[in-house]
Amino acid sequence: MGIPVERTRSPKPHPADADLGFGRHFTDHLFRIDWSEGKGWHAPRVEPYRPLSIDPAASVLHYGQAIFEGLKAFRHRDGGMRLFRPEANLARLAASARRLSMPAPEPGIVLEGIRALLRTDAGWLPESPGTALYVRPVMFATEAFLGVRPSKTYTLLVIVSPVGAYFSGGAHALRIWVERARARAAQGGIGASKAAANYVASLLAGEEAKAHGYDQVLWLDAARHADLEEIGTMNVFAKLGATVVTPALEGTILAGITRDCVITLLRDWNVPVEERRVSLAELERAHAAGALEELFGTGTAAVVAPIGELAWDGRQLVLPAPGPQSVGERLRAAVHAVQRGEAPDPHGWLEPV
Ligand SMILES: Cc1ncc(COP(=O)(O)O)c(C=O)c1O
Repeated sequence: MGIPVERTRSPKPHPADADLGFGRHFTDHLFRIDWSEGKGWHAPRVEPYRPLSIDPAASVLHYGQAIFEGLKAFRHRDGGMRLFRPEANLARLAASARRLSMPAPEPGIVLEGIRALLRTDAGWLPESPGTALYVRPVMFATEAFLGVRPSKTYTLLVIVSPVGAYFSGGAHALRIWVERARARAAQGGIGASKAAANYVASLLAGEEAKAHGYDQVLWLDAARHADLEEIGTMNVFAKLGATVVTPALEGTILAGITRDCVITLLRDWNVPVEERRVSLAELERAHAAGALEELFGTGTAAVVAPIGELAWDGRQLVLPAPGPQSVGERLRAAVHAVQRGEAPDPHGWLEPV
């Protein structure tokens, strides 16, 4: 079954690659599919990007059933376009939906919709190194009903944003503020879901960190405020001596797809990697002993972002700038090379559009 495409009559001008930034521009079309009790998923279509009309009683506005995803499509060295690990994002979208009592979107139909959308907006794929199309699926409850129960109707949209290189002019090391009092997610909660609510929980600490000159917040576990969780929109890794460690997936952090790529590559390279609890105290001890060699965050936006400073309560761990042979820099280069078709893709991470 082909997905119907309604083309826009007023295409927008494309921004210059140098002016792209992140998430500021949107292409001409979107993919939409709706769900209702009885009908299930129905009416997939690509249509012009335009404002929505929504009922003031729509339950997403009151009770917050909203989830999303984020993945990228890249220009391959053969000139075509490839999606990076879309099946992993769509599996995570379905898992988020189940946790928030929403119907799980069928990955096959959503991937078909993303492909139809990207083919329609293929002319938006930027050319310059480091640029990409960022693909944002979002699903929300639309039933006009006041009352705390799952909605009986939902809309899933996919929008696309041409994005610039995350690091223009080389990677700059992040300055990270460790949040010691607030928590983003607790055991038993929805921290492992890509739910809009998790991001709202992080805003206040993030704004405070920025006001103090820091880029993002490192979250600690909600129970003891001792163990590392994740950073803003990134998972966190530390190289302690020869071993790379990252917090285990215990239900409070997002199972990052870049995190999975990094663990896979480290295993390919025979670098010891451990998924386990990592406490701030352990990092501090390692730093004092000269064993905290690298700290970095991983996520779709930057792939690997080096961390140059961790600060809390008047304390500060400062790390030297990573050299080209650091594990973090090698990981970023390796993932970039696969994404652009400049290296083999032994794990099958690229998906044709
Ligand atoms: C809270 C959070 N943690 C981690 C990540 C990294 O996940 P991924 O590597 O799938 O982009 C993201 C970004 O998607 C995120 O929002």
